Amino acid sequence: MKLKLLNLAILAGGLAVSSSLWAAGATSTATSAAMLSNTCNGCHGTNGVSAGPSNPTIAGQPTAYIEDSMKQFKSGERPSSIMGRLAKAYSDEDIKAIATYFGEQKFGRTKQPTDAAKVAKGKKIHANNCEKCHEDNGRKPDDGGVLAGQWSEYLQINMNDFQAKTRPMPKKMAAKLEGLSKDDVDALIHFYASQR
Ligand code: HEC
Ligand code: HEC
Repeated sequence: MKLKLLNLAILAGGLAVSSSLWAAGATSTATSAAMLSNTCNGCHGTNGVSAGPSNPTIAGQPTAYIEDSMKQFKSGERPSSIMGRLAKAYSDEDIKAIATYFGEQKFGRTKQPTDAAKVAKGKKIHANNCEKCHEDNGRKPDDGGVLAGQWSEYLQINMNDFQAKTRPMPKKMAAKLEGLSKDDVDALIHFYASQR
């Protein structure tokens, strides 16, 4: 609850910053994308590398993935605590510019506590079920975004949404998730969090 209130305060502040920057007369697309991104940095960290725990890192995610995610938040197709309301403030052109900007930044992996036995178990489950689409142990900026080094708490919230079928995903991913227990998902998250 506390975190939500803090996020909302940052959100209000960020929107005020971005509209005053617009008023100051941003013209070039590159400059305006960087200025628009200031609104995001309050929650997603400097240049999109988040200080966690439930705000994901968006730097270095594939541009198309960021763009699709923003549009899914905007339409309400993807569940959210914050992004649904926020995404509505942006046109499709703004979303494209912002997605391109963050797609060009570098994904940052932060050290998180992990359990070695769970990491080893998660590594195997990943290889058998997830590697096909989330390549290079989830490090590759693929259609499903970067998983390796993403914040655990964020991943857990989204795995809950996927398992509850409230967040859209490919049918093949849904089929893989059906066979996984709560402990399996926990192991996968330790594995992703363990990567530097
Ligand atoms: C007030 C805090 C806040 C602000 C400001 C904010 N976000 Fe978010 N963002 C979140 C949270 C929290 C989530 C997780 C989904 C949710 O609960 O809303 C998220 C999720 C996302 C995701 C999904 C990432 C993934 O891996 O699937 C993207 C993309 C994103 N935000 C982009 C942006 C962009 C672009 C901006 C600026 C225009 C922005 N966000 C501003 C808090 C914020
Ligand atoms: C058939 C390909 C495919 C398979 C197999 C697959 N995924 Fe995905 N995954 C995707 C796609 C595509 C998305 C993006 C969904 C969207 O938001 O539209 C995604 C999204 C995700 C996300 C959200 C990332 C974020 O930043 O919010 C997580 C977490 C995830 N997958 C975990 C897994 C795990 C764990 C497995 C194995 C048990 C798995 N996936 C198997 C294709 C796949």
